Amino acid sequence: MAETKTRFFCTSCGGETLKWEGRCPACGDWNTLREAPSGSGRSRGSGRRGPDHRGASRPEPLAELEAGAGTRRSVEPASFHRLLGGGLVPGSLVLLGGAPGIGKSTFLLQVAGNLTAAGDVVLYVSGEESARQVRLRADRVGGGAGGVHFLAETDVERILEAADELEPDLLVVDSVQTLSTPGVDSAAGSVPQVRESAARLQAHAKRTETATFLVGHVTKGGGIAGPRTLEHLVDVVLRFEGERSHQHRLLRATKNQFGSADELAVYRMTDRGLDPVADPSDLFLEDRPDRASGSAVAVPLHGSRPLLAEVQTLTGRSRYSNPQRVATGYPSRRLSMLLTVLERRAELDLSEADVFVNVIGGLTLTDPAADLAVAAALVSVESDRPVPADLALIGELGLGGEVRSVSHGERRLQEVARTGLAAAAVPPSLSRGRGHDGLRLHPVDHVRDLRSLLEDGGDG
Ligand code: TYD
Ligand code: MG
Repeated sequence: MAETKTRFFCTSCGGETLKWEGRCPACGDWNTLREAPSGSGRSRGSGRRGPDHRGASRPEPLAELEAGAGTRRSVEPASFHRLLGGGLVPGSLVLLGGAPGIGKSTFLLQVAGNLTAAGDVVLYVSGEESARQVRLRADRVGGGAGGVHFLAETDVERILEAADELEPDLLVVDSVQTLSTPGVDSAAGSVPQVRESAARLQAHAKRTETATFLVGHVTKGGGIAGPRTLEHLVDVVLRFEGERSHQHRLLRATKNQFGSADELAVYRMTDRGLDPVADPSDLFLEDRPDRASGSAVAVPLHGSRPLLAEVQTLTGRSRYSNPQRVATGYPSRRLSMLLTVLERRAELDLSEADVFVNVIGGLTLTDPAADLAVAAALVSVESDRPVPADLALIGELGLGGEVRSVSHGERRLQEVARTGLAAAAVPPSLSRGRGHDGLRLHPVDHVRDLRSLLEDGGDG
């Protein structure tokens, strides 16, 4: 009965097939199927510790169950508390993804240290680093990190035994790719292992009400720990992003069962760990070039929070029959739409030009309210006239070239005013609101009106 069959798992979606195929039948991705034995241990081990554990599960009226919100734990830094949707939820499983070396272990050790300093018990398990290495890091980041309980282990059963003994408020497991579960006879890091290990941690978290953080390295495709099934399994998915060569790091919630997704926190890597950046808008505008055409300030919303972000564009005559369209931090489909709107509604024909769009600081502008700024940057670079340096642009573009109103307009204007810019180009509806610290509002109702906002040519 415990016969081991060979199966194939998709490294992209986690789908399972009995024979190898070039293309995953579940998600359609090519060359993602990997061979792995799938023992019968998967279902056998899961229920071993039975429901007679802490927090026994039997049906009860909902009103008699403890509500999660009241028991949330405060965490530091405050930006992380907010990112989680208002603190740590007991029993939640949080996946923290990011490229190797980005700062995941450092950050979680700091969070663990802060909780410990506040009187909570944290168990930090590492399958990647020795006690000595983590000890040195604890010395470096200081705070309460020295009081965090540490275990170097990769066996999920033993990790859970240690957790049952210590009964921590927070369990950190670094990383999911190093874990192995007895009974699953494929290598650590393989899809069945990652899936099963995470499932065990999930069951344990729910049963014992232990908040659990799971670290996952991202693959080159950008997925966390390979299978997307992992992202479905956990309650919260956080991602650490940023250039290793730059100091700042963005921590983003891409899924949050307990709060709003797309929330963002910004940190700076120092020689004593990660420091919260109090004013991210300032950071993203820091090195803005003076009076250069092709640059504009957008005010995208990240979760509940508006930020100021610089968009840069460059165009050039293409040497190819298929001009290049390269957008970093701005959706390429959205760029295609914008270019067509500019061509048809504002007489700006870029159909034969190479177009480059870059959002500074690793930010991603998925918020359509950034359209107007991207359009302004393109109009600016084509006419070689700079967008005024103290102007922010807010508005979504419709296919008719009309500037449409955006959500949370007032909140965005407050952020513009707070950052010290003098003016904002806005949809007409927003210009009728109240003023914000003397902020000048320029109503723009159509994309063709953008030209009138630009300054005279940079070269005089
Ligand atoms: P690390 O947390 O090990 O990354 P991950 O767990 O995501 O792989 O951090 C990696 C980098 O951070 C490493 O290059 C050293 C640097 N670092 C600092 O700059 N300052 C610090 O205080 C610490 C602890 C690390
Ligand atoms: Mg690490």
